[in-house]
Amino acid sequence: MKKNKKFFKYFKEYQWANIFTMIKNNRSGPKICNEDFKNKLIVITGATSGIGYYTARKYAAHGANIVCINRNIQKSEDLCREIVSDFGVKCDYLIADLSNLKDIYQVAEQLQNYKTPIDVLIHNAGVYLTKKELTPDGLEKVFVVHYLSSFIINYLLMDKLKSQQKARIIMVGSEGHRFAAWGIHLDDLNWEKHRYSGLKSYGTAKTAQLLSMIVFNENFKNSGVTINTMHPGAVKTETGQENGRVYRWFKKNFIDKTLKSPEISAEALYYLGVSEEVENLSGKFFNLTTEEEAAPPALDREVAFDLWNKSLELAGLHE
Ligand SMILES: NC(=O)c1ccc[n+]([C@@H]2O[C@H](COP(=O)([O-])OP(=O)(O)OC[C@H]3O[C@@H](n4cnc5c(N)ncnc54)[C@H](OP(=O)(O)O)[C@@H]3O)[C@@H](O)[C@H]2O)c1
Repeated sequence: MKKNKKFFKYFKEYQWANIFTMIKNNRSGPKICNEDFKNKLIVITGATSGIGYYTARKYAAHGANIVCINRNIQKSEDLCREIVSDFGVKCDYLIADLSNLKDIYQVAEQLQNYKTPIDVLIHNAGVYLTKKELTPDGLEKVFVVHYLSSFIINYLLMDKLKSQQKARIIMVGSEGHRFAAWGIHLDDLNWEKHRYSGLKSYGTAKTAQLLSMIVFNENFKNSGVTINTMHPGAVKTETGQENGRVYRWFKKNFIDKTLKSPEISAEALYYLGVSEEVENLSGKFFNLTTEEEAAPPALDREVAFDLWNKSLELAGLHE
């Protein structure tokens, strides 16, 4: 569909009521799940800081074994030692730079070969970059870390997860998907024709995640595997540290002061991964644990299938 046709299509679909609902939901806390999750396995990306760190600890505190996918060996060693010592569960790590396709395939293959079921798979790793960066594969970095890595891992794990007959995938998305207000530029994912900004690239990557969920959800239909995306709240983490001094100063002195603790995100990710109340819910977007309607560009089925094909092409995968 032509660009201006898309603009009018989305424009008509936007509803003020959804924005007010989001604002209301932003003020609410998560639902709490008190069930245990003993001897289950959760796999989580980016567990070395922020939301991932608190989430790994939350699951471990309820008896789950943890496999984290991180890029830093020393931080991973420290994390696993801490979790084993504090909770007496198993904690392993796989090292992968999730902006690098080779590393992404490697971890996906390692996970494919797991003999035990992966009960919950959480795609959490992320970066926020005010300046455009390209990966060694020549792709825009934010898009790869937030979206393409989760797409490839989900895609390559589809058969394994279906064969388990039960698994939950949760993608840590963001209300920031709304920054891609008029949709994603499928023909310009590297921002060569459009002006790059941190908010726009972030919005695009998070919108892409939501679009991929539409197609994955169809693929997982009646398989016992669910896939959902959640906004983890506006919480104080290490995000943005890769950016320049001015950005970091502004974040520390202004933004951070308004943010909540990432413990609320961990609480929500535990609820969505474990609670029986959401056992059969799939293909949904949650603000913490409250179901919410995503922005129109993130609900566009036609673009979702185009993106699916484009992602297979970028990743060098075949149906
Ligand atoms: N904080 C918020 O308010 C907020 C709001 C909405 C959505 N989110 C989402 O929440 C998720 C977690 O972010 P956070 O706020 O907890 O930020 P964070 O503290 O910066 O944590 C990000 C995690 O991702 C890892 N990571 C970054 N780039 C990576 C790469 N190339 N390969 C592998 N791992 C990588 C980091 O590893 P290192 O420790 O090695 O850096 C870290 O473990 C992100 O998807 C973010 O978009 C956050």
